Amino acid sequence: MLNAQWPLLEVDALSVKFPVAGALFGAKRWLHALSDVHLQLRKGEILGLVGESGSGKSTLGRAIILPQENISGGCIRFEGRPITGGLKSDMARMRQQMAMVFQDPFASLNPRQTIGESIAEVLRVHRKVPKDRIPARVDELLAEVGLRPEHGKRRPHALSGGQCQRAGIARALAIEPQLIVADECVSALDVSIQGQIINLLMSLREKKGLTILFIAHDLAIVRRLCDRVAVMYLGRIVEEGPVEAVFSQPRHPYTAGLIAAIPEIDPHKTLAGSALVGEPPSPIARPAGCAFHPRCPVAQVQCRSGNAPETRHFADHGYACVLDRSGGEFVNQGVVK
Ligand SMILES: Nc1ncnc2c1ncn2[C@@H]1O[C@H](COP(=O)(O)OP(=O)(O)OP(=O)(O)O)[C@@H](O)[C@H]1O
Ligand code: SF4
Ligand SMILES: [Mg+2]
Repeated sequence: MLNAQWPLLEVDALSVKFPVAGALFGAKRWLHALSDVHLQLRKGEILGLVGESGSGKSTLGRAIILPQENISGGCIRFEGRPITGGLKSDMARMRQQMAMVFQDPFASLNPRQTIGESIAEVLRVHRKVPKDRIPARVDELLAEVGLRPEHGKRRPHALSGGQCQRAGIARALAIEPQLIVADECVSALDVSIQGQIINLLMSLREKKGLTILFIAHDLAIVRRLCDRVAVMYLGRIVEEGPVEAVFSQPRHPYTAGLIAAIPEIDPHKTLAGSALVGEPPSPIARPAGCAFHPRCPVAQVQCRSGNAPETRHFADHGYACVLDRSGGEFVNQGVVK
């Protein structure tokens, strides 16, 4: 029996790289989508994963849910057992306890099937209930996500975006997962509908003790929904901690920049680093040292070379920066531009 504080999922030094077409002077080139990623999800918690486009959020979500060819280092453990690099049959069995909810609810459902057929298919394939119980279980799952039995008789195009996303969540729940990876699952929805889906996820966590990795761009939603947040930059986790600690006192300049870009979160707070300028560099040519140094308003000489900064930990709040922010304040400790 897992204790609430024990990690359900552990990502340990995970690296993922993709080959890039066209060798340079005969040397094969790689796109480093994830580098030495460490992350833990405790049972029943909602962890937000944020970062600019291309930072590696979906790659991490996919590495958890699907077998990956491109893992170049590290491993992922579920309930203490590896789900990468082990026997395919064992890994497939463990992955049956995880499901993904996607950004585009229409694309994630078969347009030729009714919603009910889509959910029934999952129940059949995973042998979740006896055949004669399937229709009743489909109705139960629809009810769990706030849909009525008649919604199950419609095809995806006959539903609204919000109803379709509810159906996608019902399909994910059909396998009775312990973990859901929700990749930008509300980004395509209207703001009012986003709120309804967020409420649904919160109530499912309460009722079922679900653990959720919530991948998102929208920091305001992450602050409302999540218990903890991890911030990614160019394939690395640069800060991770309880939502309130990270939002009220970000310790990595990149996190501070992301938060400063959304003034409604705290319009009175001034953070050195201010809103981010420029774009992230290509993950094919990661800058040496701290990959954030070309954009960092408080970069130091030592940030430009060597290895990426080690992660410092203060209780359960970690950040990877050479500057000591244990006092919490963003003090400009000598800007080198
Ligand atoms: N199958 C693949 N082959 C080659 N490169 C890939 C592949 N999948 C992802 N990448 C690259 O890996 C990096 C991380 O991509 P990823 O989709 O994980 O980012 P993301 O944080 O989810 O971005 P977004 O917010 O836009 O969804 C990007 O540079 C992307 O181009
Ligand atoms: S390590 Fe250096 S460049 Fe990177 S965030 Fe910290 S101060 Fe900025
Ligand atoms: Mg993505």
